[in-house]
Amino acid sequence: MFPPVKIVSGGLEIREFGPPDAAQVTALVAAGDRTALPPGSPGDVADVDRWLAETVHQRRLDGAGVHLTIVETASGEFVGSVGLRDTDWAAGTTEIGYGVRAGRRGRGYATGAARAVGRWALVDGGMRRVQLHARLDNVASVRVAERAGYQREGTLRMAVWDGEKAHDLAVFSMIAIDLEAAEAAR
Ligand SMILES: CC(C)(COP(=O)(O)OP(=O)(O)OC[C@H]1O[C@@H](n2cnc3c(N)ncnc32)[C@H](O)[C@@H]1OP(=O)(O)O)[C@@H](O)C(=O)NCCC(=O)NCCS
Repeated sequence: MFPPVKIVSGGLEIREFGPPDAAQVTALVAAGDRTALPPGSPGDVADVDRWLAETVHQRRLDGAGVHLTIVETASGEFVGSVGLRDTDWAAGTTEIGYGVRAGRRGRGYATGAARAVGRWALVDGGMRRVQLHARLDNVASVRVAERAGYQREGTLRMAVWDGEKAHDLAVFSMIAIDLEAAEAAR
């Protein structure tokens, strides 16, 4: 499993979700604004406390990945989430994903978090490869991957189905030799 995560980088604090986040998470769930919360986060405010106290930690303890909150250090405000999932410990691979609150986008938060967590996974988390998939039409997410220092490897054509049509996915990854270039591009 991954060690506990606490990353302080570029005005952001990135750490596991926990009970102190209850008020901010509950407000988002109540508002139906869940794009900034991790996949599998509760849809009902009644489930928030249990999710924060148990489910998020279980993910790290069972080795699948981590659910992390992105907090703006200066204000203490929750601005989004970033996570690792589908971790393969034998191969040393994991997959990163992220989301930022609608009113906090365009400030570099996702780029900073994707860069910092990719580095953490390779340096402290024991991973050899952090992969990232972004729908080609999700221009902001593709841009985040590029600016955070992930290398583009190709396109998975018609790889996801949204219920109405298929979409292409851009494939990116970060490995140890990319870290220096990612740092230089900051
Ligand atoms: C994708 C997402 C996380 C980006 O978060 P963010 O904090 O706004 O990202 P950043 O500010 O770090 O960078 C956004 C980059 O995308 C660009 N961008 C944002 N919206 C864009 C758009 N509609 N078209 C083109 N570029 C766009 C920004 O200009 C910036 O690039 P730049 O630095 O070259 O100017 C956010 O839009 C989001 O949460 N979307 C919903 C969830 C999601 O799609 N997650 C990714 C799944 S793979």
